[in-house]
Order: sequence, then C-alpha cells, then structure tokens
Amino acid sequence: TTYKVATFVGSLRKASFTRKIANVLKDLAPEQLELEIIEIGDLPIYNQDLDDEGKPPAAWTAFREKVISYDAVLFATPEYNRSVPAVLKNALDVGSRPYGKSVWNGKPGAVVSVSPGALAAFGANHHLRQSLVFLNVPTLQQPEAYIGNVAKLLDEEGRISNEETRKFLAEFLARFAEWIERNHR
Ligand code: FNR
Repeated sequence: TTYKVATFVGSLRKASFTRKIANVLKDLAPEQLELEIIEIGDLPIYNQDLDDEGKPPAAWTAFREKVISYDAVLFATPEYNRSVPAVLKNALDVGSRPYGKSVWNGKPGAVVSVSPGALAAFGANHHLRQSLVFLNVPTLQQPEAYIGNVAKLLDEEGRISNEETRKFLAEFLARFAEWIERNHR
C-alpha cells in the first residue's frame, strides 16, 4: 500500500529552510509514502461567521476537500516567537471546522521543526503537538525531529550535505510509515 501524506509548510518565504527540508523529506520518502505539499498561504484567516452563514470562502472548502482525501499529515514548521507561525495555525483552524467536520480527525501525523537556531524550534514543535492532541491526530512520538542549525545542513541546491542528518530523516520517515500503517483508518 502507498499512503498519501499531506505535507504542510509553516513558512511562506521563497527561500524557506523549512520548505527545503520538506522537499528533502519528499525525496527521501520510502516507497510506502507519497508526500505532497499542500499550500496554505492563500487561506483567508479563519472567521467563524463565514461558516455559520453557510458562506465559507472557496479556498477553505477546496482545502478541506483536499486534505480529507489524504491518509496522513506531516507538518514541517519553523518557530515564530517560540510558537507555531500564524499561517500554519490558521490552516489547522480552517481544517478543524465546521464543528464535527474536522478534516484532521483520526489522521496519523508527524511533526518536523526547523530552525537556523540551536533550539531547533522546540517551542513550535510542542505548541503544534498541543493542538494535534485536541484535533485527534495520533502523532508520531519517536523519533522526534528537531532540525536545528539548519543553514549549515543544506547545500546550494537545497540538499542535505551531511550524511548523518540524511540518515536520520530517512529513519524518521520509515518510522512514520510504520506509524501510519498502524494508525490509519
Ligand atoms: C523568527 N525566528 C525564530 N527562530 C527561532 O528559532 N525561534 C523563534 O522563536 C523565532 N521567532 C521568529 C519570529 C518571527 C516573526 C520571524 C520572522 C522569525 C527566526 C526563524 O527561525 C527564521 O526566520 C527561519 O528562517 C524561519 O524559517 P524559514 O522561513 O526559513 O522556513
């Protein structure tokens, strides 16, 4: 079986390290996993009135319909002020509503946090996990993926220049594949 993994990147900038890591993960994915990045930058900021009035923006509806068709979810996130960037939190919020129709419910997930700093976006990683508990996303616990000092890990072409990190990311994906196998429905 091949599992389709919706992959979300919590940075919108062109040269995003986090997006580069997401692309590396896509390339390293074992044959059971197919990673696809789903764009979240054009989702209007969540406003419950629009759902309550039955007039959700088309971008919300398209996003919800898209995510629901995947087997699993992978979040690659930088850290903004020790937390999850608003663009990624907004995507979680949009996907979680209307109440009772959350697209996240029950989908196996994993988190990779990325930072040029030494603390490896630990704060974002765990704030994200707090939401994923509530959203009922069974989230891979081990191995945890904290990618710190990321600028030193990527070469000019956005490839991982360091064998140890590449091996770690491949192992992370292998464990995620097992996790999806055990937890998907
Ligand atoms: C940051 N940055 C940052 N880094 C970090 O490790 N912890 C933090 O709390 C913050 N806070 C923060 C807030 C805001 C508003 C910005 C714009 C940046 C730095 C951040 O890690 C850096 O800009 C990364 O390059 C962002 O990830 P991408 O865009 O390269 O994927």
